[in-house]
Order: sequence, then structure tokens, then C-alpha cells
Amino acid sequence: MSFPKNFLWGSATAAYQVEGAWDQDGKGPSIWDLYSKLPGTTFEGTNGDIAADHYNRYKEDVKTMAEMGLKTYRFSIAWTRIFPQGAGKINEKGVEFYSNLIDELLKYNIEPMITLYHWDLPQALQDKYAGWESRKIIDDFVEYAKVCFKNFGDRVKYWIVMNEPNVFIGLGYGIALHPPGLKDRKKELNAGHITALANAKAIKLFRELVPNGMIGSSIAYGPAYSASESIEDKLALERYYNYGVWWWFDPYFKGEYPEEMLKYNQEKYGAPEILDGDMELLKSAKSDFIGINYYCTQMIADNKEGIGYNGMNNTGEKNSQKENGVPGLFKHVRNTKLEYTDWDWAIDPDGLRYGMLQLKERYNLPIIISENGLGAVDPIDEEGNIQDTQRVDYLREHIVACKNAIEEGVDLLGYCTWSYIDLLSWLNGYKKQYGFVYVDRKNNLARKKKLSYFWYKKVIASNGEEL
Ligand code: BG6
Repeated sequence: MSFPKNFLWGSATAAYQVEGAWDQDGKGPSIWDLYSKLPGTTFEGTNGDIAADHYNRYKEDVKTMAEMGLKTYRFSIAWTRIFPQGAGKINEKGVEFYSNLIDELLKYNIEPMITLYHWDLPQALQDKYAGWESRKIIDDFVEYAKVCFKNFGDRVKYWIVMNEPNVFIGLGYGIALHPPGLKDRKKELNAGHITALANAKAIKLFRELVPNGMIGSSIAYGPAYSASESIEDKLALERYYNYGVWWWFDPYFKGEYPEEMLKYNQEKYGAPEILDGDMELLKSAKSDFIGINYYCTQMIADNKEGIGYNGMNNTGEKNSQKENGVPGLFKHVRNTKLEYTDWDWAIDPDGLRYGMLQLKERYNLPIIISENGLGAVDPIDEEGNIQDTQRVDYLREHIVACKNAIEEGVDLLGYCTWSYIDLLSWLNGYKKQYGFVYVDRKNNLARKKKLSYFWYKKVIASNGEEL
């Protein structure tokens, strides 16, 4: 069994991480433009002011995508380019940029795949009503979505509403690593619920405005195993899923919350606050596909010791990651059977297959892998060639896992690597590279194709046969 004929071989980026041009052509400031400049928030004070300067070099970048044979390019729209203040007056220059990018892609038969929200909330809305904490954001978000649907829906078929709500809400409100930098479980639960409502409303509008398009959202997916056969660990695993996995997939793709966990959260935190009509709205918005961003699996154990959040390896110093957990529910432990990256993420291709089979069983929807990739410091040889064999190995094995999943009945529409080009990792700076294309930060951001670029080109040309 091989990949379907129209399989979407793709690669992805996100506006804040790749575009740069942070205040060019009328763009307003996003929460990341401000947050990344606060002392101690990002790795070595890095930010996306310039990033890969894709905003000014998109034609050059699209040309190399075309040479590679890319079938789809997933990118995000910066809300602050369309509405510099989050709402109100449209910035035509912003609309024009994305319109040109779309045309450029279509010129080479590359299917554009748009992410509407990849974390760069307009700072104006954070200031006005605390962003995702307020239900007021729902209408502003839907208005922004409407402008995008109206301007780009004639040419763009694939749409992702939210990128990893579990990450931007979890890190923003749970462990204070993303803006607004809070540790407040109640706000976290309420804000998460509001993202689901905004997602649902945007989907409903999409049906009217882009009747032939396909829409979904992307969740960061960490399938998990139980650390042992003990009942304690198995129950901890179940709690992990209900607390952090199904908790997000269910409202987005089934219009409900895992029942026991909903009870637990409402008793313990009095949240999320669910108003009349909320659940009906969630139920009534049907996604066409589930987007997943997959990097690694988790090994879960019981957490009697009450281990809480203990920081993240954001330096690339292998084995520096400490044990993390949620007291009373579960903790993450090292999976001794797996290799880990320098950022202590488990490398587990078969976990991707396992994860997709779980999703098929629970939701029975098509899947798009909207991100998958290896973050590493790439070796450069004496001739200046970037020999990212480790990335090639990583991607190859994950593509094999996709093939196996398809054989087992998963309806996989596409596979996007993260990322097309080296870009800013929010908390890990430019040190953590993911791209097929290297960006020489010491030489005017000159682009250079890596070994993986030529490898993926063959993969695409052979529709996944030549790995
Ligand atoms: C996902 C995000 O969480 O993973 C991307 O959607 C991000 O924006 C990617 O860059 C890799 O994570 P990191 O932290 O290694 O950059």
C-alpha cells in the first residue's frame, strides 16, 4: 500500500517565526513582539523582529519550494498585519502580502494551507480585554477570520483555525512560559474554552463563505504509554489523557469535554465556565479533518510524590530536563527504550502511528499532520554543506509510520514537516534548527539547501516510495 495519489507532501512555518518585518507596512505589535523583549523570557533574548525575513524574501523562498516539488505550504497569517489593532481598520498592505504569497504559490502549483492563529495575538486586544481571557475576543477573532475567508477563500482550500491551543494556553496561563506569563489554572481552563468557542464560530462562518474548502484545527499531540503494568501507572496514564489530550481534542472535534475531568476541574477550579449555548455551539461546528503536530511521545507514571512543573530544557543541553508532573494526577518519566534529542524530546516514529490509530478510533475523521520534525544543531562540513543526516533519519522513519498507519486504515490527507526553513523557535532561539533550508545569520540571511532538502525532493517525486 502506498500514499494516495493526491497526498499533500508539505512543509510548514508560522508568521512570527519566519517573516520578520515586525513593524513593516503598517503591521501592529503582537503579544510576542513585546513579550520576547522582556528580560529572561526567551533563549538568549532572541526575538522574531527579523527572523528569516521571509516577508521580504518570500518569492525566493517559494521558488526553492517549487524546485523541491512541494505540494503544500502551510503558513500562518499574522492577525496584526490584517488588523494592526486586532479589530477596526483593515491594513490593506497586510491583505496584499498574503494575497501575493498565495498567488506566488499557486503559480507553481503549490497548495497554500493557511493557519489563522499561530499565537501572535494583537497586543491591542491583550491590553483592551486581556485577550483569550475574555469572550469579547470571539467576535474579533471571527471578524478577522471573515476578512481572511473573503479575501483568500477563492484560492485557498485548506484552513487551520488554531495552532496548538493546548500549547499557547497551557504555556501562557499554566506555566508562564508564553505571554501573558501567568500561572493560573482557572484562567487557563476558561481561556481554553474560549479558544474552542472561537474555533467553532469560525468554522460555522467558513461553511457559508468557503463552501468548497476544508477546515480543522491543529493540536499538539503527545500520545503516551504507561511506565509500568501497575494499576497506579495505568490510571495515571488515563488521567494524563483526560487532563491534557482528550481535554483538547474532544471539545474541538466532538463538541464535548471528558466527563470525569470536567467534573474534577469544575469542583477544583470552578472552571471552565460553560454558559448556555456553549456546548450546542461546539457540537454544531464540524471539522473536516484533525490537524496534529507530532514530535514525541510521553511516558507516564503515578505521581504520589506530588511532582509539579520543574522547567523545560530550552538550551539544547541533553539530559537537563527534570521530571515534570501534575500533583495528584500523573508525572512524565524518561522512556529508557527511546533515543532523545538534545532538547530531551523522545524520538518515537511508531508513536505517531499509534497516535493516529487512537484518533481514528475516537473521532473517525481524516487527519493532516501539520507539523513533524527534528530540532537540532545541524553539522556543517568543511565545504560548507549542511549534513543533517539525523533529520533525514527522523523524517524517514516518521514517513514509514505514516505509511503503516494508512495501511491500517487511517485517512491521512497530508504530511507537513516542521519547518520549511530555519526559523525562530519561540523559546529556543535560532539555535534549534528544523528546516530543509539553512539561513546564514552571519551572512545577510543567505539561504542554503541542506541534505534533507534534496532527500525530501526525492520522497515527494516518488510519492513516498523512495525513502
Ligand atoms: C510547535 C509549534 O509547538 O512546535 C511551532 O507549532 C514550534 O511553532 C514547533 O516551533 C517546535 O517547537 P520548538 O519549541 O522546538 O520550537
